[in-house]
Amino acid sequence: MKHFPNLFSSASLGKVILKNRLIFGPHATSLGCDGKVTEELIAYHEARARGGAGLIILEGATIHETYAYPEQFIYLGSDKCIPGIKKLTDRCHQYDCRVIGQLFHAGRAVRISLDGSQSVAWAPSEIPDERYRIVPKEMPREMIYEIIEAYSEAALRLQKAGCDGVEVLAGMGYLVAQFMNPSTNQRKDEFGGSFENRLRFLSEILIKTRAKVGGEFVIGIRVSGDELDGLGLDANDMLKICKTIDDKQLVDYFNVIASSSATPFGWIRVFPPMEIKPLYAAPFAKEIRKNVSRPVILGGRINQPQEAEKIISEGVADFCAMVRPFIADPEFAIKAESGNSEHIRACVACNQACVGHRLAHFPVSCIQYPESGREQIYGELELVKKAQKVMVVGGGPAGMKAAIVAANRGHSVEIFEKSAQLGGQVLLAQQLPGREEFGGVATNLAHELQATTAITHLNQEVTAQTITEFAADVVIIATGSVARKADLDLDEKTDIVYAHDIIENNKKTANSVVVADWRCDWVGLGVAEKLAQQGCHVRLVVNGFVAGEQIQSIVRDAWIAKLHRLGVEITSFARLFGSVENSVFFQHISSHEPLVFEDVGTLVIAHGYYSNSSLMDSLKTFNGHLVSIGDCVQPRSVEEAVLEG
Ligand SMILES: Cc1cc2nc3c(=O)[nH]c(=O)nc-3n(C[C@H](O)[C@H](O)[C@H](O)COP(=O)(O)O)c2cc1C
Ligand code: SF4
Repeated sequence: MKHFPNLFSSASLGKVILKNRLIFGPHATSLGCDGKVTEELIAYHEARARGGAGLIILEGATIHETYAYPEQFIYLGSDKCIPGIKKLTDRCHQYDCRVIGQLFHAGRAVRISLDGSQSVAWAPSEIPDERYRIVPKEMPREMIYEIIEAYSEAALRLQKAGCDGVEVLAGMGYLVAQFMNPSTNQRKDEFGGSFENRLRFLSEILIKTRAKVGGEFVIGIRVSGDELDGLGLDANDMLKICKTIDDKQLVDYFNVIASSSATPFGWIRVFPPMEIKPLYAAPFAKEIRKNVSRPVILGGRINQPQEAEKIISEGVADFCAMVRPFIADPEFAIKAESGNSEHIRACVACNQACVGHRLAHFPVSCIQYPESGREQIYGELELVKKAQKVMVVGGGPAGMKAAIVAANRGHSVEIFEKSAQLGGQVLLAQQLPGREEFGGVATNLAHELQATTAITHLNQEVTAQTITEFAADVVIIATGSVARKADLDLDEKTDIVYAHDIIENNKKTANSVVVADWRCDWVGLGVAEKLAQQGCHVRLVVNGFVAGEQIQSIVRDAWIAKLHRLGVEITSFARLFGSVENSVFFQHISSHEPLVFEDVGTLVIAHGYYSNSSLMDSLKTFNGHLVSIGDCVQPRSVEEAVLEG
């Protein structure tokens, strides 16, 4: 029986035939170096090609010195990029996986620089945005023509490097979109004013590129079907643009997403966290597809092969582009095609190790699958020559991952969890409103564990004596963390509740709540949201400069939006100091002035965690091979736990 017959049917993009409809979508990886492709980047893409992707669209590569930044991007402005890309395309072609390169210029959206100083940002007009907050410099006409030429030269280099095509990033509020948008393009020359003039920049790029690369090479554009930020191009604008480009036969395909880099609202949708519904860009792709003659690719939160199959079978789009699902599971396609879709390690849209790493200029990875982006180090698991008896204590993410890796390497593994369920802190996190999807981390790891030879023991508290009696060759301690209590001058008459008791529904609060959030992570945000949803008046008082300071910025911004809608009042820079009955005192951490909160019915304390090292401490005299990993070493996040596992 053929699984997902539509998804795994071949189809053409221009003159190139793809073996299936699954595309590893374009995304910056920070795996390149000095503007060039590295072995790490090749291994990363080869893993997805081997895993069954029909096409890889490479990361947005820069093309001109006005936005080059070779420390952060592959740079196509010189021939030096060609050998590396050639190696990458050759390796992917081995698996009948096609490769298209993406061309990128951010225009006014510039934050990076070579040395920490602010570099000059060039744009169609001197109009600033709400994210980068710089007034860009207007491009002179000669520069515009030079950049158009640079796009076509870059496309030619991709062709010389063996790519099957080129995609111009014309969406997300970046340079091409800035030309198309009347509110960011107020030029008086042939590139501004009328619709045709505003489209001239893109049209000229496509015409020049076709002239250089010939008719066989695929040319596509990535567009935002709607920039979704209220200030950018909307669905009607984009439909008109796509129809015009299609009528002029300038492209072989349209790659549709829905987002913009220009405002926080639009930016959240560039890297949609779990609050954003799956397939959020589908209505725009569907409408564009109805109105153009070329194939349409849909991207954004397509998480499961069932969803992708539906998109193709219902005619919403011709291809599905997925980024994070392939980061989380390089074998997404092969598993779906072979009827093993239940083994797919589904992405939970947490953004932590993929987007989070990239925005901090570290190589992309995945909290669930740290091998991602580290293929050169962990790519192939080596089987051991002599199996050892391994005892893992603790069934959270760290313990599960350690057990999986050890068992897959051929060791004899038993894992012990004191509660009735595997998952550790993830089980707590998934109980917060809108965070159910995060539970997938525990489910996926438990599923992987089940597929190994490791034996799982639930409801089993382990002591130093049990460990000695078990006589393992290696004992891995992954006992996690425990809530940290506040050692403060708090009045007994103040009603005090700890955050984890709110998450687990162990305690109730009064209507007026102050949440004192020292750690500034998901706990304070989640508890504030939960209580506000229950109708409480919530004041969230955080120790950092912004609520959620410690978590990935897009997840944070989306969460702050939810709290704003719920009327949660947020105060920053505040250290919990003490309380007297219904008054709670904080100290401003940069001015040292007092902050007093009156009429507090309940004070909820979110003061982070301590490592649970009691078992480790009781093993001081144990002389076997002992290793501790994850939160019991130091409380951090799931990412570090799984990585150490
Ligand atoms: C780390 C990262 C970097 C990205 N960089 C690019 C890029 O260079 N060009 C682009 O068109 N989209 C980029 N995107 C957006 C993705 O192509 C995609 O639209 C987005 O991740 C939503 O799809 P997904 O839910 O399948 O991940 C990036 C996404 C991620 C996660
Ligand atoms: S880190 Fe989170 S969002 Fe990124 S790929 Fe992994 S599960 Fe998905």
